[in-house]
This record gives sequence, C-alpha cells and structure tokens, in this order.
Amino acid sequence: MNTRPFPAAGTDVSLLGFGAMRLPVIDGDATKIDEAEAIRMIRRAIDLGVSYVDTAYVYHGQTSEAVVGKALKDGYREKTLVATKMPFWIMKGPEEMAPTLDEQLKRLDVDFIDLYLLHDIEGGRWQTVRDWKMYEFLANAKAEGKIRFAGFSFHGESPAMFKEVLDAYPWDFCQIQLNYMDTHIQAGLEGYEYAAAKGVPIIIMEPLKGGKLTDTLPESVQRFWDTLPQKRTPAEWALRWVANLPGVTTILSGMSTMAQVEENVRILSDADAGELTAEELDVIEKAAAEYRRLIAYSCTACKYCLPCTAGINIPLIMNLRNSWDLFDRNPKLKGEWKMFANPPASACIECGKCEPLCPQHLPIIQALKESAAIYE
Ligand SMILES: NC(=O)c1ccc[n+]([C@@H]2O[C@H](COP(=O)([O-])OP(=O)(O)OC[C@H]3O[C@@H](n4cnc5c(N)ncnc54)[C@H](OP(=O)(O)O)[C@@H]3O)[C@@H](O)[C@H]2O)c1
Repeated sequence: MNTRPFPAAGTDVSLLGFGAMRLPVIDGDATKIDEAEAIRMIRRAIDLGVSYVDTAYVYHGQTSEAVVGKALKDGYREKTLVATKMPFWIMKGPEEMAPTLDEQLKRLDVDFIDLYLLHDIEGGRWQTVRDWKMYEFLANAKAEGKIRFAGFSFHGESPAMFKEVLDAYPWDFCQIQLNYMDTHIQAGLEGYEYAAAKGVPIIIMEPLKGGKLTDTLPESVQRFWDTLPQKRTPAEWALRWVANLPGVTTILSGMSTMAQVEENVRILSDADAGELTAEELDVIEKAAAEYRRLIAYSCTACKYCLPCTAGINIPLIMNLRNSWDLFDRNPKLKGEWKMFANPPASACIECGKCEPLCPQHLPIIQALKESAAIYE
C-alpha cells in the first residue's frame, strides 16, 4: 500500500482509507450492518496496509462506530489510525459535546480517537462552530488525551468559505469531497491547492462520487475511456485522478464488498502523484464534462437527507431521475420505479426538511416533482 506523510502523527498513513459509511448491510437496510462481513473487510484492508479507518457518530443509523470498534479488536487497533466525527448539528447545545465524545469513545471501545472531526461544516453551521467555541473544546479534548488530532469535514458552499474555515484555527488536517467531476463545487481544486500550500494534510471523501463514477456508465463516457491505450475500470481512473494530486494524504473510499476492498487496495498500492499523462488527464476531463452534461442532479447517495417526513427514499428517486437522462430514457426504468419507489415521489409534502441537509445543495423538492412527472 502506498503511504503519504502525516507529519503531526510522526508517521506516514496509507493512501487508501476505509470509509465506514457504506458497509455491507442486511436486507438493504442501512441501519443493519452485516457485522461479520464488515469486520472481515475492515481487517482485510488493514492486513493489506490500510492504516486509516473513518467513521462517524451518525453513519448507518448510529451503528457504524460500534462495528468499527469490534473490527479494531484482536490487535487491529494498534495498526491503524481511527477517525470519527462530532455531529454537532444534531445537538441541542454545546453542553452535549463532551458527553457525545465520551459516548463515541465507548462505542469505539478505545482509549483515544486519533483523528476527531467537526462533521460537515457548511452554511449556518460555521457560525455554530464559532458560537459554541468548538475549537477550544477540541483543544481541551486533546489536552485530556481523548483525541490526538483535530480537524473538520467540509461540504460548504464555496472555496472561499473553505479557506475561511481553514484559516480560522490551527487544524491538524481537513477532509474534503474531491473527484474528477467535483472540481468546482464546495472546496474544489481551489480549496485543495490552498490547504496543500499551507501544508495541512488533506483527506479526500467521495473520490468515486459515492459510486457514481463506476458502474452506471453511459456509452458516451465509455467512448472516451476506450480512446486510451491503457485499459482500466472507471473506478480505477477516478481513484488514480485523486492519487495524482501530490497534496492528498489519504483517499477514503466507502467500500461495500470485499472485491472493492481488494481492487482499491491494488489500485492505491500502485498509484503515484503526478503519474497521469497529459493525454490521460485530458480524457478524464472530457469524461467529466460528458457526465456533467448528462447528470441532472449530482446526488452522491450519502443519505444525509433521510429520514424523509413522507418516508420517500430520496437517494433512490434521485438515482432514477438521473438514470432517465443517462440511459436514454430506457423503458426498463419504469419497471424499477414501480418496484422500488415506494412511497413514490408524488408523496412529497414539500416540508423542506431535506434540502438544508443535502451536502450537494440539491433542489430535492424540484427533483422529486420532475421524477413524479417522468415516472408516475
Ligand atoms: N464527513 C463527511 O461529511 C462525509 C461525507 C461523505 C463521506 N464521508 C466519508 O468518506 C468516505 C468515502 O466517501 P464515499 O463512501 O462516498 O466514497 P466513494 O469511494 O466515492 O463511494 C463509495 C462507493 O463506491 C463504490 N465503489 C467503491 N469501490 C469501488 C470499486 N473498486 N469498483 C466499483 N465501485 C466501487 C461502492 O458503491 P456500491 O455500494 O454501490 O457498490 C461504494 O459504496 C465515506 O465512507 C465516509 O467515511 C464523509
């Protein structure tokens, strides 16, 4: 496994990190992790050199941390850094920060957390971070030995906002969404370059755009890959694009099968910064432009929008909405809609709870209306 320096830790960390947000589940229920398989996968990744495991209080209906904790038994804790995040946006006030951190230590069953992040700074949450003096809280937690490094994850509105957050405190690291399509949203490449120039370790999330840059490949995108002499899967091109950036420390991928663990380990054991050719970068840029042209709503299925008041499976509806354009309005999609879209998009009561929760800032209500018009 390739590694990159994480100077504050006095060690290198693996280029691939295990994102515990998309673990295998039972009966398609995101709150029921297939524990045995998830533990097997996390341990296999660590055995293959992964030394960064990323979870959060809220993942998998608040069950991810405990499963990660179990995976780290039997000597695995010593072989990896563990990262988790404070969900300050579900808290009523700053008095809940300390008990939440203690609860996370218990769930993970560890004496300390290596990397502790303020989870998902964006919009008005940035003001809350300052009002609640969260950085002071993090500094105290460090002094108490409960966490080693303090950082934040960012899905905010612009590179300018990212720079403001980054400059506000002496963060030990930051986590941003970056893939070859999302170069101009949130922190984007501009934010990446800014953090890299400051020497702040950069952890990347959603390198495959939550899996969108893998299997559901439109023909017009595949045609670009086919022009390259080197034959690689779309997932490989996407991971190599991120690995090509020298300022990236670790790339988190939320792997949901053992085959994905094996493949991503293989790719990031071999990918180096600066290795993509000008021709390859040009083709990747063209593929990105084609995707951008085809995808109506850039949903990554992170599920932050759930639960929906009307019980709608919003990520699934978004996927079907996008598929309508991506797959040339294939009639099979109507069958999928009938089978899976229950309740249907027309059940939306426009309460508006979902939209402020979407890290991609998508107009979900509009997308639901369009989906209803297409499919119903
Ligand atoms: N802090 C935050 O606000 C925040 C937000 C988002 C994510 N994160 C963290 O960052 C991690 C990474 O983000 P992500 O999970 O969105 O990563 P990602 O790598 O963009 O997407 C993961 C999905 O891609 C697919 N995949 C992975 N490897 C593949 C391969 N080799 N071939 C084909 N498909 C593959 C799988 O989809 P299928 O399951 O459909 O096969 C998997 O569930 C998360 O797990 C989480 O730990 C943090």
